[in-house]
Amino acid sequence: MQKPIVPFADRSISLQELGNFSSRLTVIMEELREQMLAPHPRKSAPEYTSSQLGALCGIERAKVNYLLQKKEFLPQGIYHGGSRTRMFSLPDVQEWVRQESGIVHRPEGTPGEIVIIANFKGGSTKTTTTASLAQGLTLRGRKVLLVDLDPQASLTELCGLYVEEDINEADTVMPFIYGDETNLDYAINSTYWSNLDIIPAATSLFGAEFIIPSTVTQDPKFKFWDILNKGLQPLRQRYDYILIDTAPSLSYMTINALMSANAMIMPLVPESLDFVSSVQFWNLFSELALNFTGLDPTKRFDFINVLLSKVDNSSSSSAPVVRSWIERAYGEWVLPVEIPISSAVGSEALEFSTIYDVSKWTGSNRTLSRIRDPFDHLCKLIDDKFVVKWNQSVTNAKGAV
Ligand SMILES: Nc1ncnc2c1ncn2[C@@H]1O[C@H](COP(=O)(O)OP(=O)(O)O)[C@@H](O)[C@H]1O
Ligand SMILES: [Mg+2]
Repeated sequence: MQKPIVPFADRSISLQELGNFSSRLTVIMEELREQMLAPHPRKSAPEYTSSQLGALCGIERAKVNYLLQKKEFLPQGIYHGGSRTRMFSLPDVQEWVRQESGIVHRPEGTPGEIVIIANFKGGSTKTTTTASLAQGLTLRGRKVLLVDLDPQASLTELCGLYVEEDINEADTVMPFIYGDETNLDYAINSTYWSNLDIIPAATSLFGAEFIIPSTVTQDPKFKFWDILNKGLQPLRQRYDYILIDTAPSLSYMTINALMSANAMIMPLVPESLDFVSSVQFWNLFSELALNFTGLDPTKRFDFINVLLSKVDNSSSSSAPVVRSWIERAYGEWVLPVEIPISSAVGSEALEFSTIYDVSKWTGSNRTLSRIRDPFDHLCKLIDDKFVVKWNQSVTNAKGAV
């Protein structure tokens, strides 16, 4: 039997139609968002039990109870309607950690640290790592500023801001890049998570990729890699850490972030393409950086670390082989902690959240601690490195007197 002839359908699309299509998509997306997200405030920080508070301070629960009686000035927590469990808010916990954990405070006058989280590859867990590291550091009593430089603005969303509705170009680093603002104060937003602020991103960050090169064309001596640095330096007195999340490309923005940072973490998924892409990153960056005119020859990074991330340790995975290449290539740069692949991250329960957002985890405790423990370890590792540096700076300052 002969097949019926299907009439020819013209499926070509004009740019105008593409524009209409995109507007329609936006409407659908907004409806979906309304369903997916709770109304304002979109996110709230978790509460902590006495045991959790004790663990964060590095003390036994019994000691927490003892201190509650002995030091009335410490936050006392609250009991929710009829419950016999004392609960502590995030600001309470942070106050306890600052007073009772013994974690060294950043010495007054010593500037905070700027850490960039970068990798060419999308999906290499930059944003997840940045957000988790930031939250984990605030649980060590630190004050943290996030800078979202990815036009996709996932970090901004993770911080509970509604990018499409609340964030305009004027709220991002762009007015500072254009020279319309003299500092970055206007762009700092507090978040639902105490001691965690953010300079948000929006799609319009792409504008930097046009404005910066055109300025260079007019003035070849213009230090195009130093713009962000100038904005971030004054903020180092106010924050212990400034963490920068970047787009998966070596854009002008990423170069600015790299040149303002004094340390770098490259999350790297141990898969062959990711490894190849990381090598390209270094080739390109070093080629570029060595050709910058007017570069400060004393510029150094305190450290560059590779964080193995989303590691799949199942028997069929190629991770062990790629890990050996990474170890050969990056040697001591590879951190002694790795983040395993976890069904908890990005799961429905953690949509728009990180593992530190979890208040009541419905899954198994083992699943949560398998991913949370390495993040705690990562935060401690990074923080400890800087504590050594801060102590050193105090010793040097004393020596100089
Ligand atoms: N340890 C992990 N296990 C499983 N999935 C992860 C893990 N870390 C991140 N992811 C998921 O991988 C995806 C990419 O992560 P993301 O942080 O957005 O990467 P990037 O910012 O580099 O593009 C996200 O869907 C995130 O939820
Ligand atoms: Mg990202």
